[in-house]
Amino acid sequence: MVQSAISLASTSSSLPKSPNHPLLPIKDPQTLAAVKAQVDNLPFSAGGLAVLLLIFDYETSQGICSNVGCNLAGLLAHMQPENEGAVAFAKQHLLTKEENDTTCWYLFTGCFAKSEHEGVRAATVVALRELAEKLKTQSALARCEHLLAILTQEGASASRGSHEYVKTVFDDLAPVFESRLVDTLGYRVPWILHELVLEHFKVNDLMLMPEYVNKTMSILDLGCGTGLVGKCFSDFVREKSTERSILEADYKETKTQITKLQSSIAEMNNVDPDLLDSDFNDARKENLIVIEKCEEYVSVIERKMKAKEGMGSGGIYGPIKGRMLGCDISPKMCTEADKTQAYSSKVSEEDCDNFLQRQPENSFHLVVSADTYIYLGDLSANFEAARRALVVGGVLAFSIEVIEDNLEPKGFRLLDSGRYGQSSKYIKTLAGISGFQIITEQDIAIRKEQAVDIQGKAYVLVKK
Ligand SMILES: C[S@@+](CC[C@H](N)C(=O)[O-])C[C@H]1O[C@@H](n2cnc3c(N)ncnc32)[C@H](O)[C@@H]1O
Repeated sequence: MVQSAISLASTSSSLPKSPNHPLLPIKDPQTLAAVKAQVDNLPFSAGGLAVLLLIFDYETSQGICSNVGCNLAGLLAHMQPENEGAVAFAKQHLLTKEENDTTCWYLFTGCFAKSEHEGVRAATVVALRELAEKLKTQSALARCEHLLAILTQEGASASRGSHEYVKTVFDDLAPVFESRLVDTLGYRVPWILHELVLEHFKVNDLMLMPEYVNKTMSILDLGCGTGLVGKCFSDFVREKSTERSILEADYKETKTQITKLQSSIAEMNNVDPDLLDSDFNDARKENLIVIEKCEEYVSVIERKMKAKEGMGSGGIYGPIKGRMLGCDISPKMCTEADKTQAYSSKVSEEDCDNFLQRQPENSFHLVVSADTYIYLGDLSANFEAARRALVVGGVLAFSIEVIEDNLEPKGFRLLDSGRYGQSSKYIKTLAGISGFQIITEQDIAIRKEQAVDIQGKAYVLVKK
């Protein structure tokens, strides 16, 4: 494969030849890291293509899942806008190498998502239909069907991600989910929802509610993933340890000090420079130094809080007093969530609608769904089941990836990204039908994708 890439690269006469690129197969992670570090700086060129193909070849041989397939498709689409080569390459690779090669499935997605040419979508549909005839495993077929649904907007997957598809994607992602999403792509949804729910509690005097005071609330986490929501919302179901309380107080105090110093510097900046004497300047410099120290201290506290995020004895929270239940369709995500010990029992490997439907009526104070509705599409059954499971006044907190109100008459759509977007109008209508009042609707950046924020909305709804 690498050989053919190099010959494709060198036949393109308008592109510069780069004799210095390492054209040998990559054999170890260090070389991979060094080569990857160069890719971002490469222009769209034959050399860039050769390097990306080397990384692709290495990663697929090692079963590594990354977005190099998408980058490769982008580059191929740039070099050959009608993109037939990329589609054929992806199909051939899946058939002849490994049909569950995640990177290659990303390459397939990239083939049409990155091309402006209408013909590419039709050609991809033909290629996927041919592939579907030949694939042998359920997981590869599920990926194939999902991609076909994106392109045709037909079939069950146009309304909801099939269980097999979601399992396949998230079982692959589970080991790297947090490092990739939180550390690299700035995913913050669980923290944002926690803040919004807390705000609702504060504004409505719900902090005095006996269940909140005694930490005996009942919470459901739909699509719990690796357990980030369970950890974020643990202050609703557990007492903080003294250590946690001290760290938090320190954090708050230092942040306040930073804000004060910053506003005093801002005031100093407004003073006429002719009136500044040396004492004034010294004070300004000193403030800047203190701010720097405070910021360092804040990051130390943050690191400490993260390092000691553990639950139960030895962590910074006491044992669980309320109920924190979780479910997820991906077995490997469930295993990660269980490791956090944030949940009161083993998380359920189950579809979130089924899970909600078998809970007793009026039994939960809070249902959270962080970045899960992007795999559900049609939310009507979910809202109905959530309303049933919640007590009156109970909260449904969730995020969506937002689409324009007029983009899709049914209110949700399977997007080129393979995720579902919902419109604000759809959520309003569904909330009304299902007996919820919308308390908060806030624009948020869900995370980054190729350095651009994915726009979403966070909601807090209350059962009427
Ligand atoms: C983007 S992750 C978010 C995980 C977690 N809520 C968080 O904020 O870190 C989406 C999760 O939803 C799960 N999921 C998707 N569809 C589901 C369904 N129908 N039922 C249960 N879980 C589902 C996936 O397996 C995945 O773990």
